[in-house]
Formats: sequence, C-alpha cells, structure tokens
Amino acid sequence: MAVLTILNKDKRLTDADEIAASLASHGIDYERWTPSHPVSDDAPPDEILNAYAREIDELKTRGGYVTADVIDVHAATPGLDAMLAKFNREHWHDEDEVRFIIAGHGLFHIHTISGAVLAIEVEAGDLIRVPRGTLHWFNLCGDRRIRAIRLFQDTAGWTPHYTESRVDENFLPVCFSAAHFSTAT
Ligand SMILES: [Fe+2]
Repeated sequence: MAVLTILNKDKRLTDADEIAASLASHGIDYERWTPSHPVSDDAPPDEILNAYAREIDELKTRGGYVTADVIDVHAATPGLDAMLAKFNREHWHDEDEVRFIIAGHGLFHIHTISGAVLAIEVEAGDLIRVPRGTLHWFNLCGDRRIRAIRLFQDTAGWTPHYTESRVDENFLPVCFSAAHFSTAT
C-alpha cells in the first residue's frame, strides 16, 4: 500500500481511497490493481502483462497509451546510479509517466501547480499516473529494487526536461514502508 506525505502540511495518508482522492485533486491518478490470476512477482514479462491485461487495456483506452513493458531494476543493475541520477532531479516529460509496481519500492515527489510538494511511496499493487508536464522527481528506497509495468503514449516523449530549480535538494528521500533512507544519489 502506498504512503502519501503532503510535505508542507506535514500530513500523511495510508488509506488507498484517501490517497486516491488527495492525488486526484492534483491531477494524479492512483489505483490499486489485482491480477486476474495469481502471478509471481518474478514471472517473465509476458506473464506479468497477461495477468494485468484487463487493467492495462482499460488504461490504454483511457490514456491513449500504445505500448506496455516491464522494467526491472535492482541493486546489481549495471549503471544503476547513473540511471537514477537522470530522474532524481526535478523534471517533467512530454509523456505521462505511468507505473504499476510489481515488486520493490519507489518514491515519487510531485511539485504541484499550487506549490505543494507531495511524496508518494509506491509498492506492489500500486498504479500511479503522473500527467505530462507535471514537475516531479524519483528515488528508489533502501531496497534499491523496483519492478514495474510502464505504459507509453510515445516512448520518444519520455525524455526528462530538467527545471534546474534544485527544489529536490530540500527534500530528503525518506521511504516509510521500506523503512530505509534512499541510497540513490
Ligand atoms: Fe519522470
């Protein structure tokens, strides 16, 4: 289950419905998905995509996504720190960032239009959709592990545009359910 922290209000939500309602007010979609049949979190990508085919197809129709894949990142992934360094600074994309978490943890910070900063820690079963143009940054948690389904409107649009605001430096990437500080730098 996700943990949502509204940093400037020092408010923390752990109830899925409350998280979804709060994020919806900022244009962020949050859902909990369950597979159509049991599937191991280390199953091959095709099996993962098949188990969530209904939800993926619905989301494709709603959001105009054309492709879905499975990304797998763990502590031993070659070039992990360089990969993480692309995304842990405030940026936006010309493409929605859609992730359904299969295993591990991740921490999204969202810098809203109103100036609030939200920290959303996601784990298995969580779907998050960050609309194109939304300012955000991402860290792994202490387990340095994430496996997720990604959906794309156009893979070419998923290039980060940096704000260079350095606002991200004001927020320590703290994960709660993983009970670790992020070690991503
Ligand atoms: Fe991003």
